[in-house]
Amino acid sequence: MSDNSSNAIDALQWENRRFPPSEAFKDQALVAGTFMYDTAAQDDLGFWAQQAAELIDWSTDWETICEWNLPFAKWFVGGQLNVSYNCLDRHVLAGRGDKVAFHWVGEPGDTRTVTYSDLLAETQRFANVLKGLGVGRGDRVNIYLPMIPEAAVAMLACARIGAAHSVVFGGFSAHSLRDRINDAEAKVLITADGGYRRGDVFALKPVADEALESTPSITGVVVVRRGGNEVAMQEGRDHWYHDLMAAADPVCAADPMDSEQLLFLLYTSGTTGKPKGIMHTSGGYLTQVAFTHKYVFDLHDDDVYWCTADVGWITGHSYIVYGPLANGATQVMYEGVPNFPGNDRFWEIIESYGVTKFYTAPTAIRTFMKWGIEEPAKHDLSSLKVLGSVGEPINPEAWMWYHEHIGGGRCPIVDTWWQTETGGIMISPLPGATTTKPGSATFPLPGIGAELVDENGVRVDRGGGYLTLTRPWPSMLRGIWGDQERYRETYWSRFDGRYFAGDGAKLDDDGYLWLLGRVDDVMNVSGHRISTTEVESALVAHPSVAEAAVVGATDATTGQAIIAYVTLRGGAEVTEQDLRNFVGEEIGHIAKPKAIYFTPDLPKTRSGKIMRRLLRDVAEGRNLGDTSTLADANVVTELQRRAADVPAED
Ligand code: WT7
Repeated sequence: MSDNSSNAIDALQWENRRFPPSEAFKDQALVAGTFMYDTAAQDDLGFWAQQAAELIDWSTDWETICEWNLPFAKWFVGGQLNVSYNCLDRHVLAGRGDKVAFHWVGEPGDTRTVTYSDLLAETQRFANVLKGLGVGRGDRVNIYLPMIPEAAVAMLACARIGAAHSVVFGGFSAHSLRDRINDAEAKVLITADGGYRRGDVFALKPVADEALESTPSITGVVVVRRGGNEVAMQEGRDHWYHDLMAAADPVCAADPMDSEQLLFLLYTSGTTGKPKGIMHTSGGYLTQVAFTHKYVFDLHDDDVYWCTADVGWITGHSYIVYGPLANGATQVMYEGVPNFPGNDRFWEIIESYGVTKFYTAPTAIRTFMKWGIEEPAKHDLSSLKVLGSVGEPINPEAWMWYHEHIGGGRCPIVDTWWQTETGGIMISPLPGATTTKPGSATFPLPGIGAELVDENGVRVDRGGGYLTLTRPWPSMLRGIWGDQERYRETYWSRFDGRYFAGDGAKLDDDGYLWLLGRVDDVMNVSGHRISTTEVESALVAHPSVAEAAVVGATDATTGQAIIAYVTLRGGAEVTEQDLRNFVGEEIGHIAKPKAIYFTPDLPKTRSGKIMRRLLRDVAEGRNLGDTSTLADANVVTELQRRAADVPAED
C-alpha cells in the first residue's frame, strides 16, 4: 500500500458491534439464508443467466452468457431486448399501468404523480421527438436537466430508439458540458430553462448556450420549461419540449436492440485531467441493476423507494431510472436540497409518502447529524424498512446515527460499494441475510468476485490490500469511449488478470470487507470523484497562476475536502475567491477548492516532483517527519504557517 493508505489502515479502529436482521425482517425478506450465495458460488455464469431470464423480458434469447476476452466482456451475446420496454411497456401490459412510478416533489412544494402509463406515453412521444430531430440508433444525445421526471423520460426515450445518452450533472460548468458533448459527438442536447435549488432558480439554458458556442456536432436543442427564467431560443436549433411533444406522434414501437447495444456514456474523473466516457450497454447492465435493486433493497410490490441521488450520477442512472423502473417500483423523486425550506425536508417527504426504502450518501448523513436529532424527531419515520448508503466509506458513528435516529433501531442498513465503472452494486449486505457491522460493506454480492491483493498482486485474506475484481460481471463498463487503450491501461494493467478499482480495503478476522478510500490521486468529495489533476489543470488555466498542487484532506462532513496550493506568476495578483470561482467555471461548483493557499514555491523533491503526500500532511495538520529529501525545506515551514489560518467556506 502507499504511505497514505497504510496510515489509514493503522488508524482504523476495529468495530465489533454486530447487527443481525431481526426475525420479523427475515420472515418477510426475499432472501434470508445463504442459498443464493451458495448457488452463485457453484456456477456464477448460470446464476447470472437465471437472473437475466427471471428479471428481464427478452425478444430473442442469448446464445452465450458471457464472452470474455480480457479486458473486454460481452454479456448475453446474441440476445435482444428493449430497455425501455422492460422499464415501461411490460408493466403496463401486465395491468400495472396505474401504479405510480414517480411521486415527484419539486423543491418549491409543487408535486406531480407519474404512473407507469403516463411515463410510457410521455416516453413514446419523446422518442418520436428525438427521431424527428434526426436521432437514430447508435447516435449520442446529451442530457443536462434538473431532477424532474423529464430526465427519466429523456433517458428512456433514447433507450427506446437505441440512441445512447450522456447525462451531465446540472452542477457542471459550460466548459465541462462542452467537453463532454464534444467527446461524445452528441447530435442533440436536452436541457431546461432552469431548476430549483435552495429556494432559487438556477439557470441551465444560459450555461448550455455558452457550451453550445463550440459544439459542432449539436444540430438540435430541446428545452424543458421548469425554472420559468427567461432564456434565449436560437431559431432553427432550439425547441421547447412542450411544443414538440404536443405535435409528436403518440406511438413509438420499442424495437429490439442487441444485448450489447450502447445504452449510455457517463463521464467520470480518473487520475488524469481528462474525464473518461464510461460505456455501459443494455442486457447485462439491466440484469445487474434490476437484480441488485430488488435484492439489496428487499423490494416488495407495495414499497415506496427513494434514492436521493441526482440522475446526473451513476447512482441516479442505476437506482432511480433503470433498476427501479425495470422492477416496476414506486419511487419518490425530489428536485431540491435537503434544507429547503427547513432542515427536515427529507423527513417530511418520508413521512408524507410513507417511504419504506431510503438510499442516500454518508456526506448527507453527517450533515443531518450536524443539524441535530430534533429534525428527524419532528416526523413519523416508522414506514422505513431498509436504509442504504453509497458513495464513500460510512464511518461507524454515522452508521449508528443513521441506524438509531432514522431507522429507529429497526432497519437493516445496506452499505453498498460500487462505482460508475461497475454500473451496479458489487459489495453490500443482503438485508435479510447478512449480519452487519457498522462501517463495513460486508461481502461481495452473489455472482461477484472481489479480492484484496498486496502490491505484488498476491491475494490477501486478512488485513489491508488493494480491492480488485476477479472476473467479469454483467453491468461492468465495456470501455472508455474513444480510448480502449486507456481502458486497458487504467483498470487492467496494475494487477495481472484483475480489474483494479482504485480503492484500498481491509478484511477482518470474520472476512468482512472494510473500504478505506482511494489509493490514487482521486479525491472523494461528498461522494463524488474529482481528480487532483483536473483541479490543478483548471487552476493553471488561470492567467495569474504559475503552478498548482491539489490534495484531498480529510473533512468531517464531505469525507475529503479539496485543498489547493498555488504559486502565482511574477507580478500577478488574484484573490482566493476569484480563483475558486474560476475553478467553478472551469469544472463546476463541486470542484471549487475549500481552501487555496498562496505560496512562493511548492515543496519538491530534488528531482522536481511535487510532494503531494507532504502537502496532505500539512493540510491535515500532521507532523511532517523527515523533509530532508526536499529541495528547499523552508517552503514547508512557510506553508504550515499559512495553513494555520482558517480556510474559506462557500
Ligand atoms: C468510488 C466510486 C457508486 C455510486 C457513487 C459513486 C467510493 C462508493 C462506497 C462505499 C466506500 C465507496 C469508492 C469508489 N465508494 N461507494 N459504500 N464505501 N467507498 O460513484 O463517482 O464512480 O465513485 O466511490 O472510492 O471507487 P463514483
